[in-house]
Amino acid sequence: MNREEAKIRIAGLRETINENNRRYYVENSPVISDYEFDMLMNELISLERQYPDLVTPDSPTQKVGSDLASGPEASGQEGNGDSGKAIRKDETAGSPDNEPAVRNEFAQYPHRYPMLSLGNTYDITEVEAFADRTSRGLGEAQFTFSTELKFDGTAICLTYRDGVLFRALTRGDGTIGDDVTANVRHIGNIPQRLSGSGWPAEFEIRGEIYMPYKAFDRLNAERERDEDPPFANPRNAASGSLKLLNPKEVGHRGLECTLYHLAGEDLPFQTHDQALSAAASWGLPVSDKRKVCRNIGEIKEYIDYWDVHRKFLPFATDGIVIKVNELAFQRLLGYTAKFPRWAVAYKFKAEQALTKVRSIDYQVGRTGAVTPVANLDPVPLSGTTVKRATLHNLDQMRLLDIRIGDYVYVEKGGEIIPKITGVELSERGKDSEIPEFPSLCPDCGTPLVRDEGEARFFCPNTDGCPTQIMGKLVHFISRKAMNVIAGDATVEQLFRLGLVKTPADFYSLTKEDLLRLDGWKDRSAERFLKSLAASKSVPFEHVLFALGIRYVGETTAKEVARHFGKIDAVISASKEDLLAVKDVGEVIADSILSYFSVPAHIREIERLKEAGLRFSTDEDSMESTALSGLTIVISGNFSIPRDEMKTLIERNGGRNSSSLSNRTSYLLAGSRPGPEKMKKAEELGIRVIGEKDLIDMIGGQAGNPDIHEKGSGDAGTDRQLTLF
Ligand code: IVH
Repeated sequence: MNREEAKIRIAGLRETINENNRRYYVENSPVISDYEFDMLMNELISLERQYPDLVTPDSPTQKVGSDLASGPEASGQEGNGDSGKAIRKDETAGSPDNEPAVRNEFAQYPHRYPMLSLGNTYDITEVEAFADRTSRGLGEAQFTFSTELKFDGTAICLTYRDGVLFRALTRGDGTIGDDVTANVRHIGNIPQRLSGSGWPAEFEIRGEIYMPYKAFDRLNAERERDEDPPFANPRNAASGSLKLLNPKEVGHRGLECTLYHLAGEDLPFQTHDQALSAAASWGLPVSDKRKVCRNIGEIKEYIDYWDVHRKFLPFATDGIVIKVNELAFQRLLGYTAKFPRWAVAYKFKAEQALTKVRSIDYQVGRTGAVTPVANLDPVPLSGTTVKRATLHNLDQMRLLDIRIGDYVYVEKGGEIIPKITGVELSERGKDSEIPEFPSLCPDCGTPLVRDEGEARFFCPNTDGCPTQIMGKLVHFISRKAMNVIAGDATVEQLFRLGLVKTPADFYSLTKEDLLRLDGWKDRSAERFLKSLAASKSVPFEHVLFALGIRYVGETTAKEVARHFGKIDAVISASKEDLLAVKDVGEVIADSILSYFSVPAHIREIERLKEAGLRFSTDEDSMESTALSGLTIVISGNFSIPRDEMKTLIERNGGRNSSSLSNRTSYLLAGSRPGPEKMKKAEELGIRVIGEKDLIDMIGGQAGNPDIHEKGSGDAGTDRQLTLF
């Protein structure tokens, strides 16, 4: 690579790394694995080494990733080095892994000593090199190593003054951190007050906040039950939880802390190991899994042991940290801008498999997005056989420089869809073929487009591309849309037979048409027609959602339907009108405008209207106004599905909301309600009601012919509701 090419590649790598740093540290929702990230960083380091004049102070090789939502420069204030003064407050924060977007309410303070990261490697020979280098650097003096687990959580810096917890800061950008003291006071194993004796009057101790697997599983089970999106992994859950705004809620998350670095110039200890033992004697949580090693052989033994045994630990680890144990030698070796020279992290690779790429398919989704998917020689990986893996998009293919015939590493990213994380270039054969990303849609031949800011290519033939049409038909009848009972295979057959080309065609289907489907008999056809007929009474907001307008999800559809009341008002809305709707921004507004600018869409809506679907909120059967003005949050399970419970509330004039706030009127708790929601309701003084209370409130006013009482008031049990 010549200098010019290197310059371009460096710029690309920096942008990708910065973006992935933001996703990891600020949003807590990484989209690439740690391994992929580290490979990008390694490439950047090696290019910068080759062309040192291209190194800039803002390169991600020169600074640690930041968990701050925005830097201090965002508020126009600089860190002033005064550790007693908060330097920034009230910036708008990003949304920690799936938590609602919050204002960053945390004060920020500069770190007394920068909070650095660790140089890391996946290669044991680099650990050997580290040991050699250190030995040479120390002039062959006698020294030892402290080997420790590398905990996979989020870094924390605690300050104790006169034996009392004074402040807890996140790593932030390494120089300034968020003050999360109030939250940390609710973490069970962090003492407010030290025990024992001999602690310095003031000292800083650093470590990791993590979430043990058990607490993680419990939290995710609760979140799923409450229909909150689950966290991707314990690390994201830990850093998301640490930044919650309600300290008591933090206390319920089951976070734990482990401390691994006592910071200070005049510590009364000879070694790091002694410092940690002393910290443990003061009641601070310090891992007892660490070991002092005398040479590389012992380090390797420790690594080999924990590479296996870490699988039995109750918390996540992602490697081993090897530190020079003698504090005087640590001081001698010092720091680079980013790392201590006296330590290195050896990282465990996520379980991977090496296999061959047979071919690459380009799959078109419902919205027209084209995703490259590799067909692989089947290979076992973590209990299943992997045959296909996603390549995400063209940028990712280019980044990997993947060729057909290459041997590639496959990982189960986020445990669900396998992905390709790297190419084994040493195995590349002469016959490997550079894949060609299609310029035309593989389904309908329309030239693909890539909107600004989009990583993916799209087929713009929204209404003519068979895969998109089928995807839209499936979406149209799905449970949260028209709720017609039929599988994807039925839709595909109806489409292939030319019986349904657009959603409105569903409503002209006859029994004879349906009997043409494979294996369909009178009863299946009748059931399907009945379900179609019932779908004509789903509320307007569901119909609007069913249309499948890009970016208009369930919630947006509800807001738009309620704001405008009827479809004609939505169709004639200007961009300004649309922007006035809650949660509608530029992108959604443009998408709605563009959808209704297509005459075929307007014709389709006319046909759906003729079929009898609801296109205004007036038509939505308001059963009563018994709940009008009330905002109700639901939690737990009921005698009817949760969606139907929400509809019931809305049909009786109430508003359903997913999170509790001062505006919530009641928390409707079913069986096994989310403990967090119950706690929060108590804190906010919100009355908790049961299913029976709600039915009593709707009472005689409900007048809903669709609601039938099952049985008659079984003593001791809630009345059962059945909605048809
Ligand atoms: S020592 C200057 N020890 O890993 C001291 N870090 O990838 C540097 N980590 O930023 C930290 N376990 O958040 C150290 N036993 C351990 C660790 C550890 C986890 C984290 C820490 C660090 C990151 C680097």
